[in-house]
Amino acid sequence: MPDGIAVDYNGLIPNNVGLAADWRVRKALETWHPGYIDWWQQMGPQGFQDRLVYLRTAVGVGSEGWAKFGYVKMPEYRWGVLLAPAVEDRKIPFGAHKGEKAWQDVPGEYRAMLRRLLVIQGDTEPASVEQQRHLGSTAPSLYDMRNLFQVNVEEGRHLWAMVYLLQKYFGRDGREEAEELLRRRSGDQDSPRMLGAFNESTPDWLSFFMFTFFTDRDGKMQLAALAQSGFDPLSRTCRFMLTEEAHHMFVGETGVQRIVQRTCQAMRDAGIDDPTDVERVRALGVIDLPTLQRKANLHFSLTLDLFGNEISTNAANAFNAGLKGRYREDKLTDDHVLTNATYPVSRLRDGAIVQEDVAALSALNMRLRDDYVEDAQAGVTRWNRVIERAGIPFRLSLPHVAFNRRIGEFAAIHADAEGTMLTAEQWEARKETMLPSADDSRFVESLMQPVQQPGAYASWIAPPRIGIDNMPGDFEYVKIEA
Ligand SMILES: [Fe+2]
Ligand SMILES: [Fe+2]
Repeated sequence: MPDGIAVDYNGLIPNNVGLAADWRVRKALETWHPGYIDWWQQMGPQGFQDRLVYLRTAVGVGSEGWAKFGYVKMPEYRWGVLLAPAVEDRKIPFGAHKGEKAWQDVPGEYRAMLRRLLVIQGDTEPASVEQQRHLGSTAPSLYDMRNLFQVNVEEGRHLWAMVYLLQKYFGRDGREEAEELLRRRSGDQDSPRMLGAFNESTPDWLSFFMFTFFTDRDGKMQLAALAQSGFDPLSRTCRFMLTEEAHHMFVGETGVQRIVQRTCQAMRDAGIDDPTDVERVRALGVIDLPTLQRKANLHFSLTLDLFGNEISTNAANAFNAGLKGRYREDKLTDDHVLTNATYPVSRLRDGAIVQEDVAALSALNMRLRDDYVEDAQAGVTRWNRVIERAGIPFRLSLPHVAFNRRIGEFAAIHADAEGTMLTAEQWEARKETMLPSADDSRFVESLMQPVQQPGAYASWIAPPRIGIDNMPGDFEYVKIEA
């Protein structure tokens, strides 16, 4: 039942793609499996691998009740290959082939481009697990520890999702790419992960929450664009990944929100009205709001680089080819071909940042980035409601897109968080007020003391409003005693 909804849990690899009857691909995946488990043991979460964690596992791909919760040791998690149900008679929704029957096989002329898209997406999945591997031992609660591990096992599953496509549709090339995905390492000098933000470290839990809020959200946007693909197996793969990704967004947004809430509460209790009175706020064992802003500035700017150059022929080619669409392409009401359309792009012209209309096909990275910024802004607005309700005169904001960039139009300049251009000297002088300083990092690190009693939380973060799977407040999400 290759197009079925039910997941076959009988073999080594749970799947709803008919692996039992697909000897060649099953063999390739089973051959890859031990290397994956080795990678997980070496580069996955440090410690806790033999502990029981209350995790959700996908048991179906329908919109209702697709997951079940239960205690599992992480190395025994059932990583599988799951595609969203096929849409009957699906057509290629955009680009030069718009309206033709969606491809069930790789179109020969786009083989290299498609492989590249899969490898780049695939590379980010294990990278974030590697970046987060040290965090278990400093978790602020068992609830948060469990959420970290949930995100980690699902990023592992996302790697499986891309490896399945590579091995099924790309033969020997695909098998080689699948090996390479296990070989590269986040932050490694000789063999780094492919994209910059995935080689940065995630040294503490504030970074983790910011990463899941900002950087996993780039993942969401990329998956949403690939979910529109005319290559139907990729579309179905990404549609299912998005259901898991929603939890990663939730972990990031509520993580930061609970920090904000705790800080505001502590300030009110202590009668501190001035959010910039950092020393007094920190003395309460909570993270001051200006530090949260600097952390957000860092993670937002690193993530914007993932969208690539504002003007890009690669992006135009992938769209024309029908491989990668726009965010919510199916909800847009233009011609989905874009040959005559333009899109406003912010550019650097004679030392000023201006908006310029550019051929829409070339501006697809910019457009996806704009959609991303809007999506991220909605979360920031929700954080600010917490601060507002506490009556504290401070608002978090997203920095200007020109701030702290390494890629694209603004890589060449320095700009402050408002987008005002700075000289190199001004940047050096002001950098520490806009990006986390060594002192900020030291302070945040000093708070990273593990809390492992069920129902207890570190001083700097509020408990969640409700438990995972509606569990009670003192639920033992991770059984710490072996
Ligand atoms: Fe992912
Ligand atoms: Fe994710």
